[in-house]
Amino acid sequence: MGSVSGMASTRFICLLNAKAAGSTTTLARAGCSVCFRRNVCSSPSRLQSMSAWVIDQYGTNGVLRYTEEMTVPTVNFANEVMIKVNAASLNPLDVSMRGGYGAKMLKLRRDPLSVMDSGSEFPLILGRDVSGVVVDCGSEVTHFNPGDEVWAAVPPWKQGSLAEFVTLTEYEVSHKPKLLSHIEAASIPYVANTALSALVNAGGLCRDSTSNKRVLITGGSGGVGTFAIQLLKAWGAHVTVTCSQNAEGLVRGLGADEVVDYAAGDAAEQLEMMDKFDVVLDNVGGDTEQWVMGLLKPWSGAKYVTLVTPLLFNTDSMGLLDGMFHAGFTLHNKAIQNVISSGVFYRWGFYAPDGPALDEICKLVDEGKILPVVEAQFPFTQVPQAFQKLEQGHARGKTVIKVAEEDDRQAEELAQDSSRTAESEQEVQETAKQN
Ligand SMILES: NC(=O)c1ccc[n+]([C@@H]2O[C@H](COP(=O)([O-])OP(=O)(O)OC[C@H]3O[C@@H](n4cnc5c(N)ncnc54)[C@H](OP(=O)(O)O)[C@@H]3O)[C@@H](O)[C@H]2O)c1
Repeated sequence: MGSVSGMASTRFICLLNAKAAGSTTTLARAGCSVCFRRNVCSSPSRLQSMSAWVIDQYGTNGVLRYTEEMTVPTVNFANEVMIKVNAASLNPLDVSMRGGYGAKMLKLRRDPLSVMDSGSEFPLILGRDVSGVVVDCGSEVTHFNPGDEVWAAVPPWKQGSLAEFVTLTEYEVSHKPKLLSHIEAASIPYVANTALSALVNAGGLCRDSTSNKRVLITGGSGGVGTFAIQLLKAWGAHVTVTCSQNAEGLVRGLGADEVVDYAAGDAAEQLEMMDKFDVVLDNVGGDTEQWVMGLLKPWSGAKYVTLVTPLLFNTDSMGLLDGMFHAGFTLHNKAIQNVISSGVFYRWGFYAPDGPALDEICKLVDEGKILPVVEAQFPFTQVPQAFQKLEQGHARGKTVIKVAEEDDRQAEELAQDSSRTAESEQEVQETAKQN
């Protein structure tokens, strides 16, 4: 399947009654049976270390270090899946995390006991998207087998995908769309989980309630925007996008109905002349929220959802408690102010890990309703260059890293190894039972 790159390719299917992502409440597959130690560890035993890009301190691009001696993240819990990474992609969060963004909150999430000590989170592996092959599964994993091709968004509190292997819970992982290469697949999970969480949980939309709703997406030309346009069109929404003039072809190619160049002096006036919106998904933040609130339909349940929130900035600068309190206070004030003055809901959107939601996105991709938008591809040797590219801004979709070759023999061998080990574990258990 070809991806959309640069100035728009034709969207080959665009009227849809999607079987798209259901709300997170439908996600019954759930890997919630956490924390049983495996009886016998069958993680591919030959592996001791792997190659990865790590950081040992926060800072600029110079802190990125390539190593072949990173500990392999073996399966330690019954609900875990170990993945051989074929491709990863970068998000603005990776650049921010490299610089220490969210460090306090993420450290707490990784290890709640870390508030008590000064234990280090380093070496830290960045990279939030993965497409690859399952090489090992915990004993309670039911949806995946070694050898399965999968994709996932790696939560920011876990070791990332700029490495040969990554280990996630079953709940976070999904079978990769068959039509996509690993490179194409790696461009989607993190932005998909973010857009879905923002639009469904905060924006109150879902595939069955979005038809003809008017949605405005600010910053439509980046990773989240290019995905959200396609998802909303698949759900039948009318989509208006703000972006730079030179991204108009791209976003129209993805299905945007109306496009406004935010850099033209009269963007706000152009939007004010349009019918009012049911939902705004704000990927830009800053001043945008001040002028965009007035574009929502008053007193009719309309919602403003921004992905640019001060929560982690606050916890970084003020400490965990003060930061969370301050963020909560800000959110509460803005929500009350807006609902009282114009009857519109003010909300913050966040990425949320959700493999079952990716299962639904997989269907849309395989139906040709969502295309990957890969702007740039870098080899694994050039991860710092990929960070540099991202840092320059002006994204048009996603920047992807090719970590391993598509026809990766090692993954196949490891998967076979792991299956053999699992079989012999079973034989041992059966013999033990018989005896
Ligand atoms: N809260 C969360 O959990 C969460 C999760 C994911 C992302 N985010 C945040 O959401 C934002 C969007 O993420 P992303 O991955 O889509 O970022 P991205 O890939 O960097 O895209 C941002 C896009 O916005 C465009 N842009 C910049 N200024 C603009 C403006 N004033 N009006 C309209 N478009 C503008 C940029 O192109 P030009 O500069 O060329 O116009 C670029 O195409 C980022 O701030 C990211 O950190 C938050």
